[in-house]
Amino acid sequence: MINLTKIGIIVGSLRKNSFSKQIADNVVSLLPAGYEAEFVEIGNLPLFNQDYEGDLGTPAEYTSFRNTIKALDAVLFVTPEYNRSIPAALKNALDVASRPYGESVWSGKPAAIISQSPGALAGFGSNHHLRQVLTFLNMPVVQQPEAYIGSVHELLDENGKLNGETTQFLQSFVNEFDHLIKKYQ
Ligand code: FNR
Repeated sequence: MINLTKIGIIVGSLRKNSFSKQIADNVVSLLPAGYEAEFVEIGNLPLFNQDYEGDLGTPAEYTSFRNTIKALDAVLFVTPEYNRSIPAALKNALDVASRPYGESVWSGKPAAIISQSPGALAGFGSNHHLRQVLTFLNMPVVQQPEAYIGSVHELLDENGKLNGETTQFLQSFVNEFDHLIKKYQ
């Protein structure tokens, strides 16, 4: 049996019709042979409280999330920008799986970031704040091409399919992610 390389996809938006999720769905179909994708839920994680490492005990959702991340070979983040940064749900998920101290399950996993916005700045602030956190979490991140998807609502059709030009760009992005992952295998 061939061992597939597992990419976890974390979507920074919890919204049902999220543009980020629609982009992520498009990206799944661009993965080369040998990969499997798994969407990782973050909306169910209680807000991080350091007392969960003490008196309060560990929430079951934390244990399950940490085990899911641990089992991944790489992580793709597709996120909107909230007030020029990453959404709180995404930061919460990053914090949860970074603890307990010294037991972060993010460390060493190759990552890639796609930011999107209906606006023209394409989530630049969110993209770079996330990049900063991932650097601290010791995750090698795809540097080029950078993926800023602006005016996202104009790029998706009514079935959530991205136009040809954007798909072609994201294919080149995915190919670089593939190269990065192979470097660390
Ligand atoms: C936004 N939005 C937004 N857009 C942007 O380009 N820069 C920003 O700083 C913000 N700030 C922001 C804050 C909050 C609280 C919300 C709810 C929204 C707009 C955002 O890009 C838009 O709602 C996207 O559609 C969100 O992505 P999803 O949910 O479609 O994936």
